[in-house]
Amino acid sequence: MSDKLEEMRRTHHCCILGSSDVGKEVVLMGWVQRRRDHGGVIFVDLRDRRGITQVVFNPLVDEAVHEKAHGIRNEFVLGVRGRVDHRPEGMTNPNLVTGEIEVMVTELKIFNEAKTPPFLIEDDIEVSETVRLAHRHIDLRRPAIQANLLRRHQAAQTVRKYLNNLDFIEAETPVLTRSTPEGARDYLVPSRVNPGMFYALPQSPQLFKQLLMIAGLDRYYQIVKCFRDEDLRADRQPEFTQIDLEMSFVGEEDVMAVAEGMMQSLFSNILDLELNTPFDRLTYAEAVGRYGLDKPDVRFGLELADVSDIVAASGFKVFSGAVEKGGVVKALNAKGCIDFSRKEIDDLTALTAVYRAKGLAWIKVREDAWQSPIAKFFTDEEKTALAGRIDMAPGDLVFFVADAPGVANEALGHLRNHLGSRLGHIDENEFRFVWVTEFPLLEYDESEKRYQALHHPFTAPLEEDYDRLEKDPLSVRSRAYDLVLNGSEIGGGSIRIHQRELQERVLSALGISAEVAEEKFGFLLSALESGAPPHGGIAFGFDRLVALLCGQRSIREVIAFPKTQKAACLLTGAPSAATKAQLEELSLRMML
Ligand code: AMO
Ligand code: AMP
Repeated sequence: MSDKLEEMRRTHHCCILGSSDVGKEVVLMGWVQRRRDHGGVIFVDLRDRRGITQVVFNPLVDEAVHEKAHGIRNEFVLGVRGRVDHRPEGMTNPNLVTGEIEVMVTELKIFNEAKTPPFLIEDDIEVSETVRLAHRHIDLRRPAIQANLLRRHQAAQTVRKYLNNLDFIEAETPVLTRSTPEGARDYLVPSRVNPGMFYALPQSPQLFKQLLMIAGLDRYYQIVKCFRDEDLRADRQPEFTQIDLEMSFVGEEDVMAVAEGMMQSLFSNILDLELNTPFDRLTYAEAVGRYGLDKPDVRFGLELADVSDIVAASGFKVFSGAVEKGGVVKALNAKGCIDFSRKEIDDLTALTAVYRAKGLAWIKVREDAWQSPIAKFFTDEEKTALAGRIDMAPGDLVFFVADAPGVANEALGHLRNHLGSRLGHIDENEFRFVWVTEFPLLEYDESEKRYQALHHPFTAPLEEDYDRLEKDPLSVRSRAYDLVLNGSEIGGGSIRIHQRELQERVLSALGISAEVAEEKFGFLLSALESGAPPHGGIAFGFDRLVALLCGQRSIREVIAFPKTQKAACLLTGAPSAATKAQLEELSLRMML
């Protein structure tokens, strides 16, 4: 039994009324945040998206309305008509925008009742994410998460306005399409009318945006859903949103300038922060060499040093052996950390083991000598050279990893991030952008025993490296660039191949035969022959960007209906089984 909306029209939101409105008759609508009974007078905090207003049911004002208010519980949906009044002396609430007034109710409508919610609609509550996601519509009532969604909306508006002003055209690209390789697995969708055939959901609009350039659109953008069936983490979702853009007749500098301007308008509009441009740049080789990772957090130092040459002939076989096998020995000086206990060092060793490091050697630099299980292996000359290269001073604790470059750098890169935050070297209020450029074009996938594109197969190689494509493909650098913010990869793009011949050479370097290339990418190859302009672009991870703008660690906090680590939606129960009839219609049979 609930009241109807008729005859009642909302006049104000729950955040707006103040002393200057005293005496006005108003109508508010919203949810019951809290109900208190004080000696016969009932107080209700009425909540809507914008805020809270205290409404009062006093038997002296209207006995019937007061009687009806006894039935109100948390999360009931109400409409109230009443007069704005000053709160009595001593009852004002300076923490609330509407804290000086209350509304004396003369008419109450209960539009709907509500079961007791599974958790309080308040920020900072102790409730598991599983429960929150299973009741996401209720979780989304909490002010903090509504603020995140509002900020996401503002960010999208800012981006659209910025790009529209630069003459970009927003165009949509298909969701039911062919595979668009970005390095993850595809989500496949069976086609009923083409038995045995499948669409792939796009991992990105990459090929379509290139086709739009070939079509002459000149400047395209889209805030678009992408789908990737990959292992999930805090900063990854199976479906996520990109700000995707592409431009014709441009080089790296043009795309980077548009991207930097976009970051400036976002940070200025949303956080009132003026960013300095151009952003710093590091080549991939510098980033990995100095910070261990291709997405370096450059808010703090703790840079790595390469000591391979110094220890190549040393008596410590782990080090000399690694160098002999083509590996490296990298060092990280944790300045002033000499007091780390054995247990602490063991924990750090375990951390680097996650990234496949086979061990973590260490040296504590005391005033008089080195304390270390490996000190005995080095000659005085080697010690002097090490001390110089790593800037060793009394009080320091130096870590080493000897391994293939990929492993040594990655393990120490993660150790560096860990120590940076643990030692308080990171200013959480700082935003440090850095471009990483000149990525390798290809990498070798050990498990699949083949080359694969580091970015995607449509990225142009650096012209000066063209002639090594066949002879020494791993040494070829690309015209790709990533934008990294505080150690998080927020965007990536490249200048593209716009000529068929070069595209065929790169596909062939990837081990893709001419037949397979024709079958998979024939439409692109022939489009490249139809008058393709030089072009390039970039895509930003919109969820990651918004999470950083909201100060959130997980992108799930800025997505209205996110999925779990197991790619499930706890609210709707997706994914779910198909019926036998559905499978038959799709000409599919279950193997399970
Ligand atoms: P890339 O694969 O680097 O490039 O993707 C661009 C950006 O998208 C974000 N991102 C993700 N965010 C959340 N969950 C995921 N699973 C996920 N995967 C990627 C990252 C990343 O930097 N077509 C190219 C762009 C181009 O070349 O123009 C592309 O998709 O922030
Ligand atoms: P071991 O000779 O195996 O007892 O190792 C001596 C020290 O070297 C230990 O502290 C190990 O953690 C460390 N160590 C072993 N392998 C490596 C490696 N590949 N890189 C760096 N340190 C290592």
